[in-house]
This record gives sequence, structure tokens and C-alpha cells, in this order.
Amino acid sequence: MAIIKSNSSSIYIGEKSFQALQRFLTKHQYSQYYIICDEHTFDHCLPSLLFHVPELNEAEIIELESGEDKKNLETCLQVWGALTDTGADKKSLIINLGGGVITDLGGFVASTFKRGLDFINIPTTLLSMVDASVGGKTGVDFEGIKNHIGTTCEPKAVFINPEFLESLSERQIKNGYAEIIKIALIADSAFWKTIKKLHTRQQMSSEELIVQAIHLKNGIVKKDLYENNLRKSLNFGHNIGHALESACLQVNKDLLHGEAVAFGMMMETRLAYQKKRLTKKECESICTYIASKYPPVKLTKEMKALLLSFLKHDKKNEGHTLCFALPKGIGTYELCCDLSLDEVANFINA
Ligand SMILES: NC(=O)c1ccc[n+]([C@@H]2O[C@H](COP(=O)([O-])OP(=O)(O)OC[C@H]3O[C@@H](n4cnc5c(N)ncnc54)[C@H](O)[C@@H]3O)[C@@H](O)[C@H]2O)c1
Repeated sequence: MAIIKSNSSSIYIGEKSFQALQRFLTKHQYSQYYIICDEHTFDHCLPSLLFHVPELNEAEIIELESGEDKKNLETCLQVWGALTDTGADKKSLIINLGGGVITDLGGFVASTFKRGLDFINIPTTLLSMVDASVGGKTGVDFEGIKNHIGTTCEPKAVFINPEFLESLSERQIKNGYAEIIKIALIADSAFWKTIKKLHTRQQMSSEELIVQAIHLKNGIVKKDLYENNLRKSLNFGHNIGHALESACLQVNKDLLHGEAVAFGMMMETRLAYQKKRLTKKECESICTYIASKYPPVKLTKEMKALLLSFLKHDKKNEGHTLCFALPKGIGTYELCCDLSLDEVANFINA
């Protein structure tokens, strides 16, 4: 089992992470356990968790409807209500068992209920293992804008068992793999060289790869939890990616977070080339690899307009200018915070 230390907690990765969870529960002596899951993790993950960690058989189960469109304040009200009705107290532990929607929403609910309950994440998708469950960003979408309401609050611990990935579809594996591509491109050129050779499902979701991706993200978060500077690098692909994801949510178009980020990374890579931060060869190598993994996204005129309207609301904007984290060469990044909306609009409409 690999153990990675974050600012205030530990991330356990491997089959033995269940044993680490048992030790964690014994040590902390919580008054009550709450497991937040959705209908898919209820079916595919909860039985295995309860079998391996029988201490949790007494837990209250809060089962939510799955989907990004449920990552909102209404669902939070439902969870806060359930916690209140069952007498959750300050010594209760919230256990988020699910993908990024559950870990983002469950973390937010926990960090605000009675001014904050302890919570742990047990991520069950590749995306939540390598990204969403780690680093303490919690939140929900609001008025269609991604992660508009939220907190920065780290889980007490993260327990990752890659066995949960077995019930995920190929599409969901690629969804999470987008965040692995991202971290390689902005943080580690050697890692990029390694992943460029990966093609099969097993390769794209191996335990070794998960450990390396978390190690890189955690290294950044440890230095800049509140995203004053370095952590902004993790937003590569996410300005355009989040805006596209919000636009798709609005028109009920089926696009996963990682797919939106993959498109965002290709667009922002081209922007980095235009801004002379990448050579043509680097730009082509990145875009060719990403395009080989994800279905193409065709933007209609209406979708471009919607995407631009969401870019205006991006949390990363500074005053009237947009702030992008662009790759500078492969394996490093540079902030580009002097982009006007017009300039980005011209780029997107070109
Ligand atoms: N907080 C952060 O730092 C951060 C980082 C990246 C992404 N995110 C957020 O994460 C979310 C996306 O996460 P996601 O892609 O995991 O989505 P998700 O939570 O919606 O999970 C995807 C689907 O897989 C199902 N599922 C989960 N585990 C399963 C399993 N083991 N077997 C079968 N089905 C399973 C879920 O029920 C859901 O239908 C977005 O809301 C995004 O904004 C947050």
C-alpha cells in the first residue's frame, strides 16, 4: 500500500487501504458514521466496503441520485436534513463513497454542517481517485455555474481501493484519465513521456499511475492549498473545459467532466502555441494524443456563445481579464492573466 501525506491527512492507496480505514476508525472513536453514496456506488461499492470494514454496518446510509445535475444546493438540503433528523453531532463522521460528484458535495455538506464535521473520501471513479477526492476543494454547482459555491476543506483521510474501478465503463476510465494527462503536462515531462505510450484500460488506470498522479497533485496542493499561485496550474484545460461542461449541462448534452477538460486542454494548448509558450511540435504532440483518446466536440455557433457567457463567470477571472494556466513547454506552466474576453472570443470563434 502506498501512503501519501497531504497537509493535514494521509492518502492510502491499494488493496490494504480498507485495513488502514479500520485503524483510522478505531483511533478516532466517532459517535456515528454516515455513508453518502449514489445508486451506483450503493450497488457496486457499498457491499464490498461493508464486508471488509464491518464496523460500518451500523452506519446511516444516505443514498443520493447520481449525476452532475444533482450536484446542487437542493441535494445539500436533502443531506443536511437527513443529518439533522438522525441527530448527527460534532463527533459524527461523514464517509463519501463515490465519484467526484459525491466527494465534492459530501465534503461541502460536511464542512458546513454545524460549522464542520470530519469527513473522509473513498473515491470510486478514476477521476475522483486521481483528482477530486484529494486537495480539499469541495462544492456544488449553482445557477448552472460549475462549483460556484464551495469551501476549501481537506478530508481527514482518503482511502483508495483501485478494485472499485472494475465496475466502471471504458468511457468513465477515459474520463478520469484526462486529469492524469493534465497533471503530466503541467508538472512532469518524464511522466508525460510515460503516459504517451499508454493505451489499454489496464495501463490507463493502474495503481502505479494513480499513485504517481496523486503524488504530483499533492505536491502542488501542499505548497498552495488556497490557490494563491502554484495551485492555479491545476486549472489547465479547466477554463474552457468548465465553461463547456456548464454549457452542455444547460442544454442537456451528455458530456463528462474529463471529456470537457480534454477538449479544454486541446483548445488551451493551441492558445499556448499562439502565445508562443509551446513549439508547433509540442502543440501537435499534445493535441494528437488527446484527440486519439476522446470523441471530437463540434461546437455550434449557439454553443460557442453559451460557452463564452460561462467563461465570463469563471472563478479564475481577475477583474475584467481572464486568467489561464497554460503549459510552457511540456511539464511546466505559466499563468496568462491578461486575456480579454474579446481575445478569447476571437480565438474560440476562429
Ligand atoms: N474537487 C476537486 O478538486 C475536483 C477535481 C476534479 C473534478 N471534480 C468534480 O468531479 C466531478 C466528476 O467526478 P466523476 O467523473 O467521478 O463523476 P461522478 O461522481 O458523477 O461519477 C460518474 C458516474 O460513475 C458512477 N460510479 C461511481 N463509482 C462507480 C463504480 N465504482 N462503479 C460503477 N459506477 C460508478 C456514478 O454513480 C456516476 O454515475 C465533477 O463534478 C467535477 O467538477 C472535482
